[in-house]
Amino acid sequence: MGSHLSFPRVTLTKEKIVIVTGANTGIGYETAKWIAMMGATVILGCRSEEKAREAMAKINAEFQAEKDLKTPGVVDYQELSLEFIKLDCASLQSVMGFVKTFKESGRQLHVLVCNAGIGMSKQAYTDDGYELMFQVNYLSQYLLSAHLLPIMKTSGEDCRIVLVSSEVHRYSELKLDRIQGRQYNERNFRRTLFYGNSKAFQVMQMFSMNRRLQNSNVTVSSLHPGVVQTEVTRNFSDMGPWALLFSIGKLIGASKTPYEGAETTINAAVNPALQDVRDVYYSDCKPNTPHSRTRNKQNQETLWTYTQNCLKEGGFLPDDIIKCLDGE
Ligand SMILES: NC(=O)c1ccc[n+]([C@@H]2O[C@H](COP(=O)([O-])OP(=O)(O)OC[C@H]3O[C@@H](n4cnc5c(N)ncnc54)[C@H](OP(=O)(O)O)[C@@H]3O)[C@@H](O)[C@H]2O)c1
Repeated sequence: MGSHLSFPRVTLTKEKIVIVTGANTGIGYETAKWIAMMGATVILGCRSEEKAREAMAKINAEFQAEKDLKTPGVVDYQELSLEFIKLDCASLQSVMGFVKTFKESGRQLHVLVCNAGIGMSKQAYTDDGYELMFQVNYLSQYLLSAHLLPIMKTSGEDCRIVLVSSEVHRYSELKLDRIQGRQYNERNFRRTLFYGNSKAFQVMQMFSMNRRLQNSNVTVSSLHPGVVQTEVTRNFSDMGPWALLFSIGKLIGASKTPYEGAETTINAAVNPALQDVRDVYYSDCKPNTPHSRTRNKQNQETLWTYTQNCLKEGGFLPDDIIKCLDGE
């Protein structure tokens, strides 16, 4: 990849607590691995305990190999500080379970990486009644950030929320009357549009949250990781053009490895030069301009109100959390 930008190999301590959602494979796996290898405690928020424990064992084995190679920036621990807490983003109750377990540990929280996601799935609805990509990619992780915010606000300087979005966010709309896609059926449901929407909503969440957190120690950023060879294609292997894009990308070396795909996330999460930097959508570790639809304040606030109403309806947003979100 030549002299492309990457993250600085900083030295972190076990007291630095980082949560990575969807960390058992792909971009999340590499993100968790490298942040842990730089010394932090990383909590893997995954829906499958078995997959998460396998990933933790694999991360530790790869860590031993990096130590033997004397790779710069890798700590000298016996074992990395890795933990698992169950998190199924298709269930708002599961998000609350994650929050409860994390809070019971009584620890601080310095970085929350909202990485878990599904790409261009077929039309499906969660038990909470939301379109699957809307909930997994956006709503559940909004809820997670909302409930972890009070802890982050009291965790010292430089706390960060990193939202792993996508360039597909440019292919999106904000139409509340069809935001859940109930008027479509499995034949005319536009999978790319609904994926794009979920990714655009993350970028809008960044702007709305930062507006409310302006004078706080918590910053929010978002990013596109690149076209990355991961398991993300599992949901759209039947979609000709998209499957082809990934196959050709791999063939001609134009797509990224999971490590390369994780570089932008890791940079946003730990680069000391980015302390207090808000409202940036990164790609290839550089600021990029997200679509004007996501930069529109009225759109951001419309989505914010809609999101809060969804969560209030199920009793998931108590007043103290709303106040904290509102910057109080
Ligand atoms: N790969 C790309 O080219 C690309 C491009 C742009 C953006 N992105 C974004 O990057 C992020 C990571 O994707 P990836 O490429 O690494 O894909 P991946 O290999 O499919 O990994 C996705 C991760 O999300 C987890 N996940 C899926 N549904 C979940 C749920 N209901 N609850 C909790 N975790 C869940 C998966 O867990 P399981 O293994 O249990 O399913 C897995 O750990 C996603 O947000 C994706 O939209 C990827």
